[in-house]
Amino acid sequence: MKQFDYLVLGSGIAGLTFALKVAQHGRVAIVTKKDRAESNTNYAQGGIASVTSREDSFELHVRDTLVAGAGLCHESVVRTIVEEGPARIEELIELGMRFTEREIPSTPGGWELDLGREGGHSKRRILHAKDVTGREIEHALLAAVAAQPNIRIFEDHVAIDLVTSQKLGYVGENRCLGAHVLDKRKNRVETFTAPVTLLATGGCGKVYLYTTNPDIATGDGVAMAYRAGAAVANMEFVQFHPTCLYHPKAKSFLISEAVRGEGGVLKTLDGRAFMDGQHPLKSLAPRDIVARAIDSEMKKSGVDHVLLDITHKPARFIIDHFPNIYKTCLLHGIDITKEAIPVVPAAHYQCGGVVTNMDGKTEIAGLYAVGEAACTGLHGANRLASNSLLEALVCAHRAAQKVLAQPEPTVDYPIPMWQAGSATDADELVVVSHNWDEIRRLMWDYVGIVRTNKRLLRAQSRLLNLQQEIHEYYWNFKVTSDLLELRNIATVAELIVRCALMRPESRGLNYNLDFPNPNPDWAQRDSVLRNSP
Ligand code: FAD
Ligand code: SIN
Repeated sequence: MKQFDYLVLGSGIAGLTFALKVAQHGRVAIVTKKDRAESNTNYAQGGIASVTSREDSFELHVRDTLVAGAGLCHESVVRTIVEEGPARIEELIELGMRFTEREIPSTPGGWELDLGREGGHSKRRILHAKDVTGREIEHALLAAVAAQPNIRIFEDHVAIDLVTSQKLGYVGENRCLGAHVLDKRKNRVETFTAPVTLLATGGCGKVYLYTTNPDIATGDGVAMAYRAGAAVANMEFVQFHPTCLYHPKAKSFLISEAVRGEGGVLKTLDGRAFMDGQHPLKSLAPRDIVARAIDSEMKKSGVDHVLLDITHKPARFIIDHFPNIYKTCLLHGIDITKEAIPVVPAAHYQCGGVVTNMDGKTEIAGLYAVGEAACTGLHGANRLASNSLLEALVCAHRAAQKVLAQPEPTVDYPIPMWQAGSATDADELVVVSHNWDEIRRLMWDYVGIVRTNKRLLRAQSRLLNLQQEIHEYYWNFKVTSDLLELRNIATVAELIVRCALMRPESRGLNYNLDFPNPNPDWAQRDSVLRNSP
């Protein structure tokens, strides 16, 4: 049994920010699946949206977020996160984060933050570190964590399930007491306990066959919270990023929206700028519109990708603004200063998640969730680009303030040891890998950018069978991280399908041909699911 004051599951921007803020007040365990830097955060490119320019205003950022969210954002949440953003950015800079700056044209020797532009933003407001913003943020946060003696990081540790009072059979409010965790190096399950557990486990891109997300993104936090009885909402709103590099050897490499922000144009293979006439912002229209337009072009012409062309910009400009994209594409034989980039949409961001208030509080006492794992109401039916790092920063701060101001009680329940099957059967391992592939493909084919109820129902019935199989396997065999993740992607896939079936309308990222228009009865209505443990 490992006892701490704060148990943080995940080492992306949400988990690390929270850990740093509570570390002065107690012992913190950060449990993380792989290497400490491996997270969606680490791959973020475009940057963080926040109002820092005199030409911008909170009002405009709020309006852009609400427009992208298609009527489903919680306006008070949007306002708070937008308004608290600049203070959190200041803290990040004080911590050592270096955003890209540019010379002020009218002031010789003067420098200011260089602000990028992305889809749906009416102003330049994206703070960035060239095209590797996430890597720089992760680096700065990890360096600060390393200097904190109160924080211990447990790498290669996979949280399996939350330990809650209700699961242990105690009556009264359901309280989170910690988590069972698989130590992959020692191949054994450990129990971590703490009065406060923070889910900062990120998103679920791996539920889909094609994704911009790294392998860690299997929706574990959402699946664990759901199994423990917390409310989960808006899972149908999966954001597909329009421009993932299309190349047989490139795994999940994003071509940042900032490329379109700096003038990149989407074209068909024969050079037609197909976004012209589809939206006033053309290639920079909100992501749902661009992703659907690409999907439709690909289906109409039977091709497997479209092109993103920025060759009209000077080569120096391209290399200076997008050094990592330039280098990575070149490694794959594509010189983006001379030729258009082959791109396809791919699953990118989970707008829904574990229901929380702005302080990260879930419905389970002692359990908090922040970042992509949480659903605060900021994103509504479609996230505005670069609002997620902002949300994680602001809400991690608020959650830390909350638990420091109102400490959770220490509860001494005896917690039984982990019980699980012990069999290992090499022949059966093929079941795990087969089911992984099957779920990801069926989600891509039946629950993708354009949906119908018939396809959703087909997906639901397949998932039901798969879940029965996984359930049986889970209780009989020794747990491995592949099996744990399979169980979680199956749960999250089911939640996405159920939420999509609940919503009889097309809104934001949920586009259903059977209900092609928004339904006013569903404006302002989240799709909420609860499991009774
Ligand atoms: P993550 O950063 O994903 O961290 C999750 C952590 O949880 C990881 O450490 C993981 O190992 C750990 N974990 C997961 N499950 C378990 C488990 N069972 N046990 C233990 N540990 C676990 N957003 C923006 O705002 N701007 C951008 O420019 C931007 N660009 C992006 C580019 C790419 C390619 C991608 C994939 C995303 C991008 N996003 C961007 C989205 C943004 O990066 C994420 O939403 C954000 O980083 C999520 O942070 P997080 O801390 O919630 O989760
Ligand atoms: C990008 O750089 O295009 C990703 C931005 C985001 O997902 O917010």
